[in-house]
Amino acid sequence: MSEEINKSVNEIDFSNFDDALQEEKEEQIRNANYEKDKTLPPDPDCLLEVRHIKKYFTLKKTLLGKPITELRAVDDVSFKVYPGETLGIVGESGCGKTTMGRTILKLYDPTSGQIFFEGNDIANYTSKEMRPLRTKMQIIFQDPYSSLPPRQTVGDILSEPVKVHNIVPKEKTKEYVLNLMDQCGLRDYYYERYPHEFSGGQRQRICIARALSVNPKFVVCDEPVSALDVSIQAQIINLLKKLQKERQLTYLFISHDLSVVKYISDKICVMYLGNMVEYGKNEDIFRNPLHPYTISLFSAVPNPDPNKKSKRIILKGDIPSQVNPPKGCKFSTRCPNCMEICKHIAPEYKEIEKDHIVACHLFDDVNKQDEK
Ligand SMILES: Nc1ncnc2c1ncn2[C@@H]1O[C@H](COP(=O)(O)OP(=O)(O)O)[C@@H](O)[C@H]1O
Ligand code: SF4
Ligand SMILES: [Mg+2]
Repeated sequence: MSEEINKSVNEIDFSNFDDALQEEKEEQIRNANYEKDKTLPPDPDCLLEVRHIKKYFTLKKTLLGKPITELRAVDDVSFKVYPGETLGIVGESGCGKTTMGRTILKLYDPTSGQIFFEGNDIANYTSKEMRPLRTKMQIIFQDPYSSLPPRQTVGDILSEPVKVHNIVPKEKTKEYVLNLMDQCGLRDYYYERYPHEFSGGQRQRICIARALSVNPKFVVCDEPVSALDVSIQAQIINLLKKLQKERQLTYLFISHDLSVVKYISDKICVMYLGNMVEYGKNEDIFRNPLHPYTISLFSAVPNPDPNKKSKRIILKGDIPSQVNPPKGCKFSTRCPNCMEICKHIAPEYKEIEKDHIVACHLFDDVNKQDEK
């Protein structure tokens, strides 16, 4: 733990505070935690366990290829996902949700960190090593308009992966696809039709059917309803829930909309600027949101109970750059509760109740009381 943070906040002289030294110390602590956790075996009960995952995009390199400017899209995130459950990832646009989903699926190579899938660390798997896993891990994209090939019929779109991966004997493909279409609420005669003939909701059903055609265990749903009319969103989420139950699927469900995440998730990870700022069970996050950022997201969700009117918290300022994020707590430039310490020292994770974790200095004392 940082020496500075062990002192009472009042003892630290922030007027002469060496921010560069503090940053160096924090980096050392993060590296030490990573090395320590690396020695631990994966949790055998998890389908997916992500440890200290980082994905930095290099924006500028030296002639020898050394990064000069990096964008820290995902910066040291860890969590576990158990079979059959849904982990919701929520946060504003640009906070790193898509990058995280794509990195877990190895569509991007992680900068560092471990990704255990079924107990094996796939973080450094080559594309050849990933091939047998590709059917087990699938993704549903946000935009059902651009993610379907326009010149293929629905039947062809859904048959192709089934044939490529030998999911059923060739002569059974059509029967298998029609059955899958039925499960996804698509009529038989759609088989001969083209994607452009359908509405957004129907197209997203086709995308879902395509992802499930290879019988995956794990599906990243990246804002699957964000491009749809509100009236259609609930139908698609209900379909995802139904299919999850029928097929024992495990989801990573990404959305910028907390009310959508609430409806489908068992656990929720709140992200801000590449970091996880709060994590907990759905009911705990909703009963007792801790992080000021989570609270601000909540204030934007309409409350159906007219007696419980909450005031909307409008965050000040723009989302800072991930190339040069604020020192200390990354949320400090917009946080309504920001204290002096927040501008200099990054808050550590604290477990406030069982499996409910937050990174915020407002809870530093909770930790100290526990230590007494
Ligand atoms: N391929 C890329 N190259 C460089 N920067 C990227 C790339 N993909 C995403 N980013 C940047 O990474 C950050 C996180 O993006 P993203 O994961 O798409 O966020 P979200 O899905 O939460 O909106 C953003 O600042 C975005 O501009
Ligand atoms: S650490 Fe400080 S700035 Fe960051 S969320 Fe907590 S109170 Fe706000
Ligand atoms: Mg995204």
